[in-house]
Amino acid sequence: MNRLIAPHGGTLVNLVADEDQAHAMKLASRDWPSWDLTARQLCDLELVLTGGFSPLHGFMTEADYTSVVNEMRLSDGTLWPMPITLDVTEEVASSLEAGDTLALRDAEGVLIAAMRVEDVYQPDRVAEAKEVFGTDSIEHPGSAHLLERTNPYYVGGTVEGVQLPVHYDFQNLRLTPAEVRASFEKQGWSKIVAFQTRNPMHRAHQELTLRAAEEHGANLLIHPVVGMTKPGDVDHYTRVRCYQALLKRYPADSVQLALLPLAMRMGGPREAVWHAIIRKNFGCTHLIVGRDHAGPGSHSDGTPFYGPYDAQDLLRKHEDELGVTMVPFKLMVFVKDEGEYAPIDTIPEGKETLNISGTDLRARLASGAEIPEWFTYPEVVSELRKSHPAKGQQGFTVFFTGLSGSGKSTVANALMVKLLELGGRPVTLLDGDHVRKNLSSELGFSKEHRDLNIMRIGFVACEITKHGGIAICAPIAPYDYVRREVRANVEGGGGFILVHLDTPLEVCEQRDRKGLYAKARAGIIKEFTGISDPYEAPENAEIVIDTTAVSPEESATIILDRLVKEGYLVTDKGQLVEA
Ligand code: PPS
Repeated sequence: MNRLIAPHGGTLVNLVADEDQAHAMKLASRDWPSWDLTARQLCDLELVLTGGFSPLHGFMTEADYTSVVNEMRLSDGTLWPMPITLDVTEEVASSLEAGDTLALRDAEGVLIAAMRVEDVYQPDRVAEAKEVFGTDSIEHPGSAHLLERTNPYYVGGTVEGVQLPVHYDFQNLRLTPAEVRASFEKQGWSKIVAFQTRNPMHRAHQELTLRAAEEHGANLLIHPVVGMTKPGDVDHYTRVRCYQALLKRYPADSVQLALLPLAMRMGGPREAVWHAIIRKNFGCTHLIVGRDHAGPGSHSDGTPFYGPYDAQDLLRKHEDELGVTMVPFKLMVFVKDEGEYAPIDTIPEGKETLNISGTDLRARLASGAEIPEWFTYPEVVSELRKSHPAKGQQGFTVFFTGLSGSGKSTVANALMVKLLELGGRPVTLLDGDHVRKNLSSELGFSKEHRDLNIMRIGFVACEITKHGGIAICAPIAPYDYVRREVRANVEGGGGFILVHLDTPLEVCEQRDRKGLYAKARAGIIKEFTGISDPYEAPENAEIVIDTTAVSPEESATIILDRLVKEGYLVTDKGQLVEA
């Protein structure tokens, strides 16, 4: 007998065709118009196909969309808080009409599903943002995506899957709703508390999930989101390794881990209801909802987008209709004397409690400081340290900018030699002239070509930095915008230090080591930086040196000192040492 909770709408949707039908669709697709799905659309489609979004059978038509935006319900009255839409360009929209079949392909062009087009419509995305997210501010990541990165037309219609999107990672944990349900049934579970997360889990999370399960006489589904989460979150590879490590610390047979390919919207209250519906489809009867569940944080002026308990309140309102129980949880803190965790509001006054915030944890990872065992298990720390090495082991880029003859190559070489002498990390010098001989040999000195040249250098520096090496770049890089682009890219994977060699033009021209200034003055070389082409001095350089009166050796020392101060290089008794 099936004792599990019924899916939302009564039936678990499964839209993946059998092998013969899938083969037939592949052949027929030759003549269909095609749409390459965005990363978000691919996530949505996967959950439509597997029934994670039951009762949806496709992307919303205008009638469902309007009703969901305004009433939080599908047009047949079923509770559904989040628009699931297929946005396309005007060009594609104008080529489609009701009754067409549209091939939905992943980024590589693999056919994932066929869509039977029912309608094509132009949504009011500002109104959608206001209703769904409560704001059209682009400081809200959900609104920003909708207003800045979504195409202007939506296509509604049902889908039939040829195959599920391909994933090569953690395949044994990527379970469909039917697979999770089958596993629950096999284990004889019927009451299941789901825990939604987009962060690594520590002991406080373990405590609260265990308590939630215990209080409700239930088992646990740890159900982390591995589709799209908030920009800046810990990557899912690291998180999943942390969950796997933590799982071993739970009582045997109490918990199951499965990965959810959801694209979160950070939609707070509406998102909490959506999360509950999804977990119901996976067979869960309860959902843990904390403070500011799926919250996008605050406006830049510090005002939060949602109240801390708005998500709990909205879900509580719909609990009965859904049949999913909301399990509220409060912040868990460690009570020092008792040596155990307790909800913050149950602790008598005067008791000393301990907690480590996310910011504090990041600082400890960056400095290599101790992360205590009361906070998180050593095996979880070790997984976090793999992807968040201390600054002394992280890669970094030193990016020189300055006029021709300002001393970039000379100082860059001096710096490189000192870093090589120190050892520890591989050092790569991307000198302007060398890059132009190799990586950018076909480029000239127009603004467009200079920008392309710097973007290429930035790309290589970013890869080197990400993989723990040191990149020293020494081009002129005369344009501010592109330097900022490079910085933003590199900082995603390590450190970035901009060094402006602010040697005056007269001095550079006087040095004229290559005789280029003379040629530029004579008009033999056109578009020469500082003479007949612009140089935008940076306002955000970490280090500014005028090499007129500072030797290359001294310049290199100034940079090394800064790297020590930032934590990228380590000293012992005043001496630089290998980290
Ligand atoms: S840029 O603007 O960053 O793409 O330039 P970069 O790749 O660093 O190349 C600069 C070197 O090319 C030589 N050169 C010129 N520089 C500036 N303007 C013009 N028109 C030009 N033509 C040739 C010059 O030797 C530069 O090297 P450095 O080491 O800066 O003197």
